[in-house]
Amino acid sequence: MPVLDALTEYEQQALDAIQSAADPQQIEAVRVEFLGKKKGRLKELQSVLGKVTAEERPVVGRRFNEIKNRVQSAWEQKRDQLARPATAAAAIDVTLPGVTLPVGSRHPIAQTIDEFKEIMGRLGFSVADGPEIEDERHNFEALNIPLDHPARDPLDNFYLATAGRTSDRPLLLRSQTSTVQIRVMEQTAPPVRIVSLGRVYRPDAIDATHSCMFHQMEGLMVDRGITMADLKTVLRLFATAYFGDDVHVRFRPSFFPFTEPSVEVDMAWGDGWLEIGGAGMVDPNVLRAVGYDPEEVTGFAFGLGVERFAMRRFAISDERGIRHFYDNDVRFLQQF
Ligand code: DAH
Repeated sequence: MPVLDALTEYEQQALDAIQSAADPQQIEAVRVEFLGKKKGRLKELQSVLGKVTAEERPVVGRRFNEIKNRVQSAWEQKRDQLARPATAAAAIDVTLPGVTLPVGSRHPIAQTIDEFKEIMGRLGFSVADGPEIEDERHNFEALNIPLDHPARDPLDNFYLATAGRTSDRPLLLRSQTSTVQIRVMEQTAPPVRIVSLGRVYRPDAIDATHSCMFHQMEGLMVDRGITMADLKTVLRLFATAYFGDDVHVRFRPSFFPFTEPSVEVDMAWGDGWLEIGGAGMVDPNVLRAVGYDPEEVTGFAFGLGVERFAMRRFAISDERGIRHFYDNDVRFLQQF
């Protein structure tokens, strides 16, 4: 039957053409020629098919469909293959510059804390840690803060009202890192030379210089014969190392229950004095509260605001002030 020969010839030629197509344009040309509906080889075949006799028609029709399906699927396979790059090696150009993945950076306050620890480490101070949830002994009593002192006012502290509390003592979020002085001295005999850096909490109204949570660096040095001259020297060496310039330290008389005498500490670096914290000689009552003998040893202590230093160093002086550190705005944080 010449019709069947024509079908076989069509299939052979179509498969050959599919086989030798080398790119997407060529395989598309093969489709137009061998599978196109409007013109091309398939159209010619259909007109030949129209001429077969009624007995031949079922056989020829089935054969036609088989062949058409085979050609169609061979064509699809080849098209997909040409759409894909031949090998992975061809797909990756190793000479192109790589894609830079976004990498985060440490928070400016975390960076400042690390730098403080490093500087104080050079001055011989080791780092101590204490809990942020405290009891009244460590936040007040052992620090010589009596029950009627305004610093203990529930309105000035975050007392915790936790269900199923494991302790029957009142607990609060520490309002100062001075708590760590007590914790360290309870655990170690003198001499002591530590700093402690961390968060403290106060229900203050939030503005450019106040936050309900901020960071302090507490320092404590207890030994035989420690004086205020040691205190001033350590603070000056610390600030000079941090700001990289000669810093002047000024003491103004003040009062803290846990130091006697007590001072406010100001520093001058470049223009103007900056108030950065409190300090003094450890009160004999505090030394006694932890079992030290005030006739044997003396010590100094200080508490500095970490944000104050960071704001000065990073020149954060606009009206958002300290709030920039806690807004969590990446446009701000990315700058450090
Ligand atoms: N704890 C004080 C505060 O938060 C700061 C302070 C003052 C710490 C004097 C000290 C110190 O160690 O001696 O306001």
